[in-house]
Amino acid sequence: MSAAPWLVVPAAGQGRRMGGDRPKQYLEIAGRPVLAHTLARLHAAFPAARLCLCLDPEDARFDPAWVPFAEWRRVPGGVERVDSVTQALEAIALEAADDDLVLVHDVARPCVTVADLMRLHAALADDPVGGLLAAPVADTMKRDDGDGRVAATEPRTGLWHALTPQGFRFGLLRRALATAREAGVVVTDEASAVEALGLRPRLVSGRRDNLKITHPEDLALAGQILAAQGQAAQIPSGSTSGETASAPAGAGAMER
Ligand code: CTP
Ligand code: MG
Repeated sequence: MSAAPWLVVPAAGQGRRMGGDRPKQYLEIAGRPVLAHTLARLHAAFPAARLCLCLDPEDARFDPAWVPFAEWRRVPGGVERVDSVTQALEAIALEAADDDLVLVHDVARPCVTVADLMRLHAALADDPVGGLLAAPVADTMKRDDGDGRVAATEPRTGLWHALTPQGFRFGLLRRALATAREAGVVVTDEASAVEALGLRPRLVSGRRDNLKITHPEDLALAGQILAAQGQAAQIPSGSTSGETASAPAGAGAMER
């Protein structure tokens, strides 16, 4: 598949778990907001992609100078993440063909590498369903008893962390999200809406350091990950971004 994908970046959240003085996409790493880092990574992988950026309509912090894409639009975010993504799909409905690939990536994941982005894109090229970056669970998993004690140890075999991007054909994703909405189900990722249609999205093994900045300690960690990745990074040819964004040799998740 050579066509550049559509990119949907939900960035309309409030960052409540982060508890900062501003939504987490505007907290800074090395002097730049998280949002700018994330968009730079996406642009380094897909310089010709068309971007839909979902922002809170009241958002006054956003600066278009952080957007490196030639073709992009601002879309008003909704109440939940899935509402923001749905609004983005509606915003491109007149232009997108049903079989166009749409990659949805959380703005709060600035550490995604160009290598993982390109591998996901290649893996989905001929996939009839679509799929997502994911990482196998490494820790032993406990289920609590609701009272702070262990009720059971869950087998971790076959369990994965769902990361982003998640990529699906425009027509399928729109139908999946509409079906979930009609059923009154709030999905927290695109894949679960597609799964609810009875389909099985492809799991594409991705790096474990594709962290979603969620809690206060995550910001410094993301900064350290970006710095470590940048030291060994190479910018893929064709990229006009100044952002360094590739995996240090040997440090990434291997195909599992
Ligand atoms: N998001 C969005 N629209 C919403 C809610 C979330 O576009 N109504 C986006 C966030 O900006 C983020 C992604 O969805 O990029 C994942 O959401 P999450 O990590 O939950 O971010 P927040 O909702 O901002 O954080 P919190 O849940 O702690 O408030
Ligand atoms: Mg949230």
